[in-house]
Order: sequence, then structure tokens, then C-alpha cells
Amino acid sequence: MPEVTTTLLPTVPTDLWLAGNQVPASSGETFAVEDPATGEVIAQVADATLADADAALDAAVAAAPVWAKTSPRHRTNVLTRIFDLVTERTGDLARTMTVEMGKPLGEARGEVAYGNEYFRWAAEEAARIPGRFGEASQGNGHMLMTRTPVGPVLAITPWNFPLAMATRKIAPALAAGCPIIVKPAAETPLTMLLLGEIIAQAFAEFEVPAGLVSILPTTGAAEMSEHLMADRRLRKVTFTGSTPVGRTLVRQSADNLQRTSMELGGNAPFVVTADADIPAAVAGAMVAKLRNGGQVCVAANRFLVDNAVAAEFADGLVAAASEVRQGHGLDEGVTLGPLITAKQRARVHDLVTDAVARGARLLLGGELPEGPGNFYPATVLADVPADAPILAEEIFGPVATITTFDGVEAGVAAANDTDFGLAAYGYAGAVTTAQYLTENLQAGMVALNRGQLSEPAAPFGGIGQSGFGREGGTEGIEEYLDVRYLALP
Ligand code: SIN
Repeated sequence: MPEVTTTLLPTVPTDLWLAGNQVPASSGETFAVEDPATGEVIAQVADATLADADAALDAAVAAAPVWAKTSPRHRTNVLTRIFDLVTERTGDLARTMTVEMGKPLGEARGEVAYGNEYFRWAAEEAARIPGRFGEASQGNGHMLMTRTPVGPVLAITPWNFPLAMATRKIAPALAAGCPIIVKPAAETPLTMLLLGEIIAQAFAEFEVPAGLVSILPTTGAAEMSEHLMADRRLRKVTFTGSTPVGRTLVRQSADNLQRTSMELGGNAPFVVTADADIPAAVAGAMVAKLRNGGQVCVAANRFLVDNAVAAEFADGLVAAASEVRQGHGLDEGVTLGPLITAKQRARVHDLVTDAVARGARLLLGGELPEGPGNFYPATVLADVPADAPILAEEIFGPVATITTFDGVEAGVAAANDTDFGLAAYGYAGAVTTAQYLTENLQAGMVALNRGQLSEPAAPFGGIGQSGFGREGGTEGIEEYLDVRYLALP
């Protein structure tokens, strides 16, 4: 039987959420979830099978027309109730997240608040899904444009934000009138299963069709998504994760022409111009780099700094990063947790040692710590050579790379020298420099003089190899809607 094996966790469900009920996997199999700060197994979680996925899709298909016919206000009320319950359970959700994912408790509480805002935003938007009425262009009739829900959705969510990356899919899907099956990351299923309990509680208070939300942790993610996408009744796939997996999903979606939203990898530049406020840029860099230990798609991956201010910026960043306190996320005062797996830590360390071997200067960190857990220290590298893989790959760790340029045009050219285009950051003083940066940095999201851009009311998403589709804002709900045109006399 699935079970929780640590006293660090609150009471969390460990079975699947299938059509409103907690059920074991049809195979009876479970898999282990570890605390990345200790390596200890903290829970055994039901391992969903393809038969479970079929059952979830059958239930979603049955729920779809019922939910689609509910009034927008009804959906608002259900989503608002989920928002209120998540607020009440913030402590349990945050603690669960810290123990299974590693982020410091304060950050986990921040993620619960951030993720929950997607419920509030979607609740408010449910009643404002727009339509359009107009005269036909030749004056011989009228046109009525409405929106209809796309139908059953599969959401594949990552481990780095176990709650927020799921809520920004679940909330708009429900607001738009769609049922959703969530496949959380196998590293961090517990936060989602606890959210499932909250959702089930809210649903029980309203008339909500069983099958509206199912949550299926599995160790067979690739097989499950392929299997579900082979079923034409599934109408949309929304994914946050790596670019190679995104490409596979888009290929698989071709057979049944499922709609897809792909929030994929990034390689965000952080450009600091000669006229920038350097203490402000350092403060922004700390957030853009060290939030979630750098395990963020929009984390600053490359610091590009004008030579005129490079030494001041590097000194400031090293001083600030030296203050970071690493440890178990539940411990008081900890500001940097472990990386998610030993494999990821080895990968980050290989990128750092390779950069140093190529001539980069190690200004801070870079040593593998002794002892249990997947810890990696805050690390700063300067003079990183242009051909170092660390500048081309998404680091997903607490490692800042600094390279320099002369003049904002050269800085922007270097920033845009990537196939990715998720986020970009720019720090500038003069209006003309700021305007040049914001107009020329190529990314779906650009932050000016800010180290943080995530916002539930704004469309989150990228261009190029960072994918397509948007999450959050009115655009995020559009992803779950089809446009319907009615020709009238
Ligand atoms: C991500 O890592 O994919 C997104 C993080 C965020 O919403 O800020």
C-alpha cells in the first residue's frame, strides 16, 4: 500500500485521484519519492498504469459536456472555493513541497500564494470569456463569434514548481469549461495529490461532475502521454518541461490534431548596461538566478555585463551570493535548498568544471559538498569563454556565468545569440538604453530593471525553441477555448 514514511510531511494522500476518488493503481504498484536534501524515501506513491489513464479519460469525456454547460458564475464559485481552501492549507502544501522538492519553506509558501493566484485569476475571468457580434463585410448578414471549451485536456507538469505549474493549467482549463487529467512529475507527486484533496473537497460542495480533474502520478510518463494522445477524445495537451520532450509531444499530437501548449526550455540573458544602477542589478540578479536554486525555466542563465561596470557587478554578486545559507528547506534561515537529483547535481558540476577548464575564473563556489543530499553551492564564474557549453545549455542550478561586452548593441547581440526565447532581463539607466533593450531583446517575456517577471495576470510563454502558447492572463484561458462562428441573416 502507498504510504508516507517520514514525520516531516503532513498527512498527504498517496493514491491516485481518479474521477473524484482516491484509488490505488490498478497494478497495485507504487514508487518511492525522496527528500532531495537527505536522500531518504519519504513516501510510496501509487504508480498509475495505462488502464488508469483510460479510466481517467473515460471519466473526463463524460464530465466534459456537463461542465461545459455550467454557467460561468458557477465555475467562478467553484474556483473561488478552491482558492480559499488552498489559502487555508498553505502550511501543509508548502511543507509538502519543501520536503519533496527541496526549496526553502519561505519560497514554498511563496509558490503556494503564486500558484493559488491562478485560481483567483481564472475565477474572475470565467465570467468574462469574450464573444463578438458584427455585420458581415458585404452587408448581407451578421456574424456571431463565441468560444467553446476544447474538451478533455492532458497536463504534464514539472518538478521545479510542483504546485504553480499545475494550477496555471488546471485553473484556466476549468474556467474555460474543460476537464483535465494531470500527470505530475514523478519526483514531486505529493503536492499535487494534496491539491487533489483540496479540489475534491471544493467539488463535493458544488455540483461538479466526477472526472473533471484526475491526478495520475506515474513512472511511465512517456508511455502514458503517448497512449492518451493516441485517443482522439483527448483534445489538448499542455506541457511544461524540456524542449526535446516538447518536440516529441508535438509530433505525437499530429495524428489526432490535438491542440498543444508548450512551455519549454530557456537560456535567459541578463544584460547589464554601463548606465545601469549596479546595486539594483545585483539585487535583481540574485532573484533571477537563485530563486528556486536556479531551477527555473526563466532563471537568468547568462549574465552579460558592460565592461565599464563588470568588476563592480561581479564583486556585488559574489558578496550577495556569499550570504546565501544552504541546507534543508525546513530549517530556519535556509535560503538555498538542494538540487532535485544527484544526476542533476553531477550535470551542473560538469558544466562548471568544464567552463573552468576552458579558462573561466571561479569567483565563488564550484566545490561539491560532502555529505547526504543533492546540494550544490551558489557559484559565480567570470570570463566564461564563448564556446563553453554552460552558456548554451540551461544550467538549472545556482550557477551564475558572467561575460562582458562593450556597448548596448554588442550586449543585445550576445543576448540574442541563442535559439531559445523564453525570458530576457535588462538593467539600464537612460531611457534610450532601456528602450533599445526592450525593443531588441528577443524573448516571449522581457523584464526591465526587475529580476522577476512571473505574474498570473500576464501571459507566460516563449518563442523559438522555448515553445509556444501562453499561461496566465486572458491569453492563458484562450488556450482552452475554440472559436465558433455563427452566420446569421
Ligand atoms: C518555470 O520554471 O517554468 C516557470 C517559473 C515561473 O512561473 O516563474
